[in-house]
This record gives sequence, structure tokens and C-alpha cells, in this order.
Amino acid sequence: MTLLYWHQLFQEHLQTKHSKSAITTFFKHLLAAFFHWEPTVLGLYPERELSPSQGKQLQKALEDLKKDKPLQYIIGHTEFMDLTLRVNPDTLIPRPETEELVGWIMEDHGSSALTAADLGTGSGCIALALKRYRPHWELHAVDISKAALAIAEENAKALSLAVHFHKGDLRSSAIALPNCKLIVSNPPYVSFSEKIDMQSNVLDYEPHLALFAPEQKPLYFYEQVFKLALKKLSKGGAIYFEINPLFCDDLMEMVVSFGFKNPTIRQDLFGKNRMLRCQL
Ligand SMILES: C[S@@+](CC[C@H](N)C(=O)[O-])C[C@H]1O[C@@H](n2cnc3c(N)ncnc32)[C@H](O)[C@@H]1O
Repeated sequence: MTLLYWHQLFQEHLQTKHSKSAITTFFKHLLAAFFHWEPTVLGLYPERELSPSQGKQLQKALEDLKKDKPLQYIIGHTEFMDLTLRVNPDTLIPRPETEELVGWIMEDHGSSALTAADLGTGSGCIALALKRYRPHWELHAVDISKAALAIAEENAKALSLAVHFHKGDLRSSAIALPNCKLIVSNPPYVSFSEKIDMQSNVLDYEPHLALFAPEQKPLYFYEQVFKLALKKLSKGGAIYFEINPLFCDDLMEMVVSFGFKNPTIRQDLFGKNRMLRCQL
């Protein structure tokens, strides 16, 4: 069967879920990931014949997409800033909002050496991006998930970025971290009440450990980070959080109750209150 045939098959089977252009984009990503073909191949060589094994790969990907599996898990990687990162269902797929959080940190801090910690690192995206753009920084990254840490470590190795990874539980005070000048965290912050509105590509595939705060306690992990920061953050140091816009006001109160200063909220590219910075 030809490329054109497969492209049309994807369009036909996915048209109720995605726009034509989104399906073409998915298709081109699959061609690149599976066969290392440039995006232009589809337009230039629509009559190119695919081998039976290539057809099998595309058929499997189509079945997965029909079941809402995220493309990033199908191809096994994603882009974060200019890093290519391996991801799998043990790691959250890094979001553009998180790139903005890293951007904010870089706006505020130049290249002079400092020690920073990324709490709840997942694929390692935040810590690895900071290490890439601020090579003189000492980066520590913590996660409770052994499986996520394995992917983060693999990403660090593939990118030759030296980050110190720690398996640790934010609920415990026994995390082996040095004193830091900067803490960043994108902790689990989705509340159970939001579950009903979530898309199945997120709810059915991304790790619930990474998504959900404990029931009735949407700010639980922020509280844990503040407690840890009181022990590990040096005076004048800063915390940067990705936040749930629904609980922005409560979080501002929490900042003050823990004695942190200068809370500043920043909106994401969708105009939602999505980031918070405060200082000790
Ligand atoms: C929202 S994800 C963020 C992942 C990554 N930093 C990002 O921005 O894409 C939250 C991460 O916190 C981790 N996590 C959940 N509970 C934790 C705990 N008690 N202690 C440490 N990490 C935890 C999850 O495994 C997950 O990787």
C-alpha cells in the first residue's frame, strides 16, 4: 500500500476526533519517528510503497490513536524547549506551560553558579532544560517514581547533561538535598473534582501519580514543598511553581502563612494564572 493510502486511512478513521491538519501532522510525526522520513515525503512521494512491516507499524499506531493514546507515548518522545526527551506512561508529557516556567526562571537568573532543585521531576524536563541553558548550575531532581526517574536519567545521559537525581518523597522530610538558592516544582495539582472534564488522552494514559493531588487537598504538595523549602532554601532564595489556576487565591494565602515574601503570579500563553514565584 502507498503512503497516500495510509494517509487517507488515517484521515478516515480519525476524522471524528481531530482536524484534517492535526491528523496530517500526527501522520508526518509517525513517518519521522518510525522511518526517519522528512515531513515533505508525503507531498513529494505519495505513491511510495510501504513494506508490510512498515504498514504494520502504522496500523498499530492508528489503532492506538483511535483509542486516544497520546502521540508522544506512541513514538516514545517529545520536544521540550529544544530538548528531545524520552517519555512513556510513567512520565507526564511535558507541557508548553512548563516551558514558560523555565523561561521565567531564566529571565530572572543569569549564568552565575547556583544550586537548584526540581521537585517532582518526571521526565526530568525542567531540571534538564535548566542544566542545558545554565550549565554552571548544580541541578538536583527528585521524584517518588522509580520508573519516572529511570526515564529522566536516560534523558540526562542521552543529552550529556549532569543532573543529580534522587528518589524521594515530598511528604517526608528525609529528602537528601543540599541547600538551594532556587526550588522549582510542577507538583501534582489536578483536583478530583476536575476529573469529569478531563480528556481521555490524559485521564486514561498519563500517570495519575503525576496528575492528581490527594482528594480534598488540592494544595497538599505545595504545602510539602514550602515545608521542605524552609529547611533547604537559603535566605533570599526563590521558589517557582506551576499552579492550578482554580486555587490561585488559596495558594497566595499559603505563601504568606509559611512566611514567604513577594508572591508574584504569572499567566500562561492561554491567559490563565499558571505560575507563582515567591521568596524566602
Ligand atoms: C505534574 S508531574 C511533573 C513532571 C515534570 N516535572 C513536568 O513538569 O512535566 C508531578 C511529578 O511529581 C511526582 N510525584 C508525585 N508524588 C510525589 C511525591 N510524594 N514525592 C515526590 N514526587 C512525587 C510524580 O511522579 C510526577 O513525576
